[in-house]
Amino acid sequence: MIWWTLSRRVIVMSPVVVACSAVFLFMAGCIGTTPPGNDNNNDNGDGGTTPAEFTNAVAARGGSLYDKWWAAAGVAEPTDDHPLWATRPDTESNARVGSDTWRCKECHGWDYKGVDGAYASGSHRTGIAGVFGTTRSAQEVFDLLADADDHAFTDAGLADADIWDLAKFVLEGQIDTDTIIDDQGAFTGVVADGQSFYDTSCLVCHGADGLMIPPGADDDHDEFVGTQSNDNPWEFQHKVRFGQPGSIMPAQFDLLTTDEVGDLGAFSQTLPVAP
Ligand code: HEC
Ligand code: HEC
Repeated sequence: MIWWTLSRRVIVMSPVVVACSAVFLFMAGCIGTTPPGNDNNNDNGDGGTTPAEFTNAVAARGGSLYDKWWAAAGVAEPTDDHPLWATRPDTESNARVGSDTWRCKECHGWDYKGVDGAYASGSHRTGIAGVFGTTRSAQEVFDLLADADDHAFTDAGLADADIWDLAKFVLEGQIDTDTIIDDQGAFTGVVADGQSFYDTSCLVCHGADGLMIPPGADDDHDEFVGTQSNDNPWEFQHKVRFGQPGSIMPAQFDLLTTDEVGDLGAFSQTLPVAP
């Protein structure tokens, strides 16, 4: 398994991991420090009564759950519609039914801005607001997501720890995508810097041109690095930061700053969109 050996080597050699290991030796802590990707400086507004479950929760895993929680948590995929789906302000534009209606991103967007972001129009429009800049406390987000009469994720099969990870992502894992993606959908980062990171951390699974079928993907795989970064840069930044749920693609959340994600996006947009 050459790719796995290589990807392990890449992970081991990552400068941030090395730096973190050094910090760990001397200060016993990288876990629990604020990751570089977090610029949603949200104080949790709860006067210091943040539950321990939230403190110990993992934002990177929450981001993966935000994408497709049943794949990330390994629980049953829902078959009915999400209970809030019927209440969406615009019931015409987005005609999806079933499990799609349960993905956080379907209602709140890959840019976390809901109707004020990329889903303001088009076939994903629901009219529902985003989650970016929420002023709710950790406990309030947990309660909202768990509540059987609201988001109903406990009844859907998520454990409390999953919901705390989601709350951690909501309050500490979001970024303002407008700082790295312009209003034409172009990443504003530095292509050359993005290429060095790509060659070190992505090439092993996606190939130099992004057209390699990554290990574990279907043979009919037809969405490539160049395709997604150009077609949906907001989805791309989320996949880069949190990985592909249910696949071996690792999250870069603890390794890349927001600007570095923008650099990687700028390089990825130069890659071919099809073989
Ligand atoms: C079917 C659509 C839908 C899905 C799926 C959905 N939400 Fe929501 N969400 C809403 C609606 C509607 C509101 C506003 C009304 C409310 O509070 O219930 C909301 C509100 C929120 C808020 C409060 C925002 C604020 O301004 O304070 C958070 C946080 C949130 N959702 C997180 C999530 C997360 C995390 C997921 C996935 C685990 C998710 N939502 C899935 C529809 C959805
Ligand atoms: C260990 C292997 C591995 C590494 C490293 C990796 N990926 Fe992936 N990536 C995958 C797999 C597997 C998928 C899922 C393919 C599928 O489900 O069809 C995927 C999916 C994607 C997708 C969604 C579109 C597509 O091609 O399926 C994008 C975009 C992507 N990766 C970009 C990146 C970038 C950028 C990096 C470097 C930061 C990276 N990946 C690192 C394995 C990897």
